[in-house]
Amino acid sequence: MSVTINNPLSLGNFRLKNRLIMAPMQQYMGTPEAFANNHHVEHYARRAKHVGLVILESTAISSNGRLWANDIGIYTDRHVEPLRKITDAIHIYQTPVFIQLSHGGRKSSPEVTETLVAPSAIAYNDHYGTPESLSAEGIAKVIEEYRLAAKRSIKAGFDGIEIHAAHGFLIHQFLSPLTNTRLDRYGGTSENRARFLKEVLFAIRGEVGRNYPVIIRISATDYSEGGLTPADWVRLLQPLESELDAIHVSTGGNVPVKPSDVYEAYQLPHAAAIKQHFNIPIIAVGKIYTRSLANHVLADQLADAIAIGRPLLDDPDYAEHLLIP
Ligand SMILES: Cc1cc2nc3c(=O)[nH]c(=O)nc-3n(C[C@H](O)[C@H](O)[C@H](O)COP(=O)(O)O)c2cc1C
Repeated sequence: MSVTINNPLSLGNFRLKNRLIMAPMQQYMGTPEAFANNHHVEHYARRAKHVGLVILESTAISSNGRLWANDIGIYTDRHVEPLRKITDAIHIYQTPVFIQLSHGGRKSSPEVTETLVAPSAIAYNDHYGTPESLSAEGIAKVIEEYRLAAKRSIKAGFDGIEIHAAHGFLIHQFLSPLTNTRLDRYGGTSENRARFLKEVLFAIRGEVGRNYPVIIRISATDYSEGGLTPADWVRLLQPLESELDAIHVSTGGNVPVKPSDVYEAYQLPHAAAIKQHFNIPIIAVGKIYTRSLANHVLADQLADAIAIGRPLLDDPDYAEHLLIP
């Protein structure tokens, strides 16, 4: 019998009741100080019952790395309690919830960012403007912010962490040669470009230990000449595989280039290509909206789990429809 979305999935020692995951999606409803509120509690609780895992929206590890003026953050101890209300509400359904930790780097919200920082002083566009290139001390400070965010994530009741290394935010900016032209130990070779991610991951691991799930979301392609490809990601992530529990495969966002066409399961070929090189689970996402397609992806071993996004915004019961044969 082949695997279906109803089958459990192990992420390291952690077990999901099924293979359907709620994708991280900004609610744009945080307070000016990036606190979560009742909207978030109700929104996530309403969608938590049936999925095997909820991944909370991108949550800022630094006041200087918020993606939006109305996103949520985990950069002070005061952010913990409002987040705890969300995890408690989700846990009523025995569904685990991971937090997606992010720093926007050169794509941090200009409205609420004091100093825009990035690996290199290259602007994404005029809206964001030109960032400052991070010094070695600046890098160390951000890594420490990730560590503290991981510590707070446990306090807030999260069952795991998703490192946001996709969509052109700070970690992605370090990894891609399009956005990282540094000449020091954080730039140049793929090993050097991966150093920031490695140090972030090790700082998180130092805080949470090896048994706590830590997964990564990536953009498999930059959709741009000279940018990252799935083969590059294999090279970048293979040395870190033993420290990761899953890879969640999205695309794009590092430069202002969009895919030429967005069709059903358009990102899946990238997930499938990457899966061939790893033993940890691969999560596919992007326009995988039907039970038959999701089961086909799993049966053909193109991915190990399916994340769904927009349908769950429109219909909170979408997961239930998908899980019932
Ligand atoms: C409103 C909205 C907010 C999103 N916010 C995030 C986010 O915070 N972090 C992230 O990695 N992706 C985010 N995404 C991308 C989704 O996680 C997902 O990859 C994308 O919607 C494609 O999946 P779908 O076709 O099932 O919607 C967002 C998407 C939408 C529509």
